[in-house]
Amino acid sequence: MKFFIDTANIDEIKEAASLGILDGVTTNPSLVSKEGKDFRKLLDEILKIVDGPISAEVVSTDYDGILKEAREYAAIHKNIVIKVPLIKEGLKAVKTLTEEKINTNVTLCFSPSQALLAAKAGATYISPFVGRLDDISTNGMDLISQIVQIYRNYDYQTQVLVASIRHPLHLVEASLIGADVCTMPFSVIDKLFNHPLTDNGLAKFLSDWKKLTDKK
Ligand code: E4P
Repeated sequence: MKFFIDTANIDEIKEAASLGILDGVTTNPSLVSKEGKDFRKLLDEILKIVDGPISAEVVSTDYDGILKEAREYAAIHKNIVIKVPLIKEGLKAVKTLTEEKINTNVTLCFSPSQALLAAKAGATYISPFVGRLDDISTNGMDLISQIVQIYRNYDYQTQVLVASIRHPLHLVEASLIGADVCTMPFSVIDKLFNHPLTDNGLAKFLSDWKKLTDKK
């Protein structure tokens, strides 16, 4: 299971990277807009921190526009993955980018049929959004099971990148299903470490140890 952080915030990326468990980064136009910085400069900063796949999303919605943006981002560094929305023009562009050996992440996937199309187009990653499905009372994790099963049935190499993760249980469920990657906000990565029994156990170990050293 690969761990990506879903943010464009440099401090969060630095902190997650320092934990030693970070494999990559995903951004989207909303996350980048929140930072209020030039995207190109932001990408340069991220590339210096993380040596792994970094998703940069295009904002064009037509084939030529998507390809133009994609080629510009891809030329920056081999680790840049082009994030493309799951629309007809987007998948046409993914097919071309795949032929050009440019890695892609097809985003805004909400159904197994969409995921099948992305795999047929040759996408490197498919990003199904579990949290946004849960938000409309549809089990997002069922979608992950279906996509993993479909890809296994036909031996598609497209990696299932579980997105829109809201809590640690999403990661656990995605791991049990066998998804390839989870992209998580920093707040979720942070929560993965926590367990009250760990805190209580450590406090007891340290206080018992102190009793011994105090005796000396
Ligand atoms: C995926 O790549 C998106 O950046 C992200 O996971 C969306 O998450 P949200 O539904 O919490 O906005």
